[in-house]
Amino acid sequence: MFLPISFIFSFLFSSTNAADFCVGDLNGPVGPAGYSCKKTATEDDFSFSGLLRTAGNTSNLVKAAITPAFSTQFPGVNGLGISIARLDLAVGGVIPMHTHPRASELILVMDGTLFAGFISSDNKVYSKSLNEGDIMIFPQGLLHFQINTGKTQSVAFVSFNSADPGVQILDFALFTNDLPTDIIEGTTFLDAAQIKKLKGVLGGTG
Ligand SMILES: *[C@@H]1O[C@H](CO)[C@@H](O)[C@H](O)[C@H]1NC(C)=O
Repeated sequence: MFLPISFIFSFLFSSTNAADFCVGDLNGPVGPAGYSCKKTATEDDFSFSGLLRTAGNTSNLVKAAITPAFSTQFPGVNGLGISIARLDLAVGGVIPMHTHPRASELILVMDGTLFAGFISSDNKVYSKSLNEGDIMIFPQGLLHFQINTGKTQSVAFVSFNSADPGVQILDFALFTNDLPTDIIEGTTFLDAAQIKKLKGVLGGTG
């Protein structure tokens, strides 16, 4: 069967255009595949001036701030499997042990000194002191951390192979909710006093 050449071309061109990008429609629902596509996109959907220019506020428990440009903040990356964030860590600041369920992470240190590492699924530690210009990769799903071990504020950029990498911080998962202390004790082998202390600091109950 022969199709008219004009039909083939119109099919090729329309499907190519439709597949170029899918700027996220933030008014629509979001699921594992991201947002649905905005009907019309403009150049402003593909740039975001100023978002990552300024340091985040590090006046908090961990003395660190994360400024994300994920699909929710920067809908142009929706569906493209890529995103970026800025990390600011005051002296002694820490991004506590955490995982990104949907992405590997590449860190580029711009300023200061970070001690960073990850733990593989066979429980081996891979850690390194990173200075300005150094990069490190944290493979998808593995627990990892960053600590500012220098004497100055540290700035880094982290990129992800997901527009919505997700994050789960280990201590927050354990100590900021109402999972009962005896269950945490039974499943982690920590003692109740330590669990209650951390629940107190991080806002957990039970
Ligand atoms: C930084 O955060 C702290 C604690 O939430 C707040 O008191 C302070 O006003 C914030 N500073 C700026 C510059 O926003």
